[in-house]
Amino acid sequence: MEELIVAPSLLSADFADMAGALALMERSKADWVHLDVMDGRFVPNLTFGPKMAADLRRRTKMPFDVHLMTVEPESLVEPFAKAGANFLTFHVEATVHAHRLVERIRSLGVRPGISIVPSTPLSAIEELLPFVDLVLVMTVDPGFGGQSLIPSCLEKTARLFEERRRRALSFRISLDGGVNRTNYGECARSGADIFVIGSAFFSAEKPEKEVLAAREAFALGHADKSRRD
Ligand code: DX5
Ligand code: ZN
Repeated sequence: MEELIVAPSLLSADFADMAGALALMERSKADWVHLDVMDGRFVPNLTFGPKMAADLRRRTKMPFDVHLMTVEPESLVEPFAKAGANFLTFHVEATVHAHRLVERIRSLGVRPGISIVPSTPLSAIEELLPFVDLVLVMTVDPGFGGQSLIPSCLEKTARLFEERRRRALSFRISLDGGVNRTNYGECARSGADIFVIGSAFFSAEKPEKEVLAAREAFALGHADKSRRD
């Protein structure tokens, strides 16, 4: 994956001005909109549901990267598919029949993704890797923005990158949580090709410059990694 996908997370936006947040993402030339869906059970926080996604859908053509941090994700995939999700990612810790859910998401015309929290090993998703379009590696314990990235999660990402290469698979690798200017380079060298950025984007004086900084660091980190591999 030569190009970086920059996906600002709406969790750090002003919830009273979500339309403004979308417009800011478009002006800043970000690539995707990351929608953090929290149910107060899988994580100790609450955000929004399918109606918010549907209302936002009418205001932008940017791809929607929906991150379900909910128990029973099965009950939400169809409403979010109808709301206009392009990618739908659920947590492997939240369901027993993950393969069935991945197939269901794809049957709804949406690209399936799976996510693992920091304490979940790669072995938990090995069987699913050929069936998904995206693996979201949480680099913080999910539930809040503005936390610090856990470095061991980048080591796990590097192993996932190797696994993808060894098995000639094509899923994208996304990092989510504490991704910012202090670690864009390390994130790129771990093999990730999607950066979810919440506080780094919305607390930036010039968010468009933040997107550029991520791209530049990715290009350098990626070139460095290719040289070393
Ligand atoms: C946390 C969410 C993240 C969060 C990232 O559970 O999944 O998407 O919004 O925010 P930052 O970049 O501030 O860590
Ligand atoms: Zn997220």
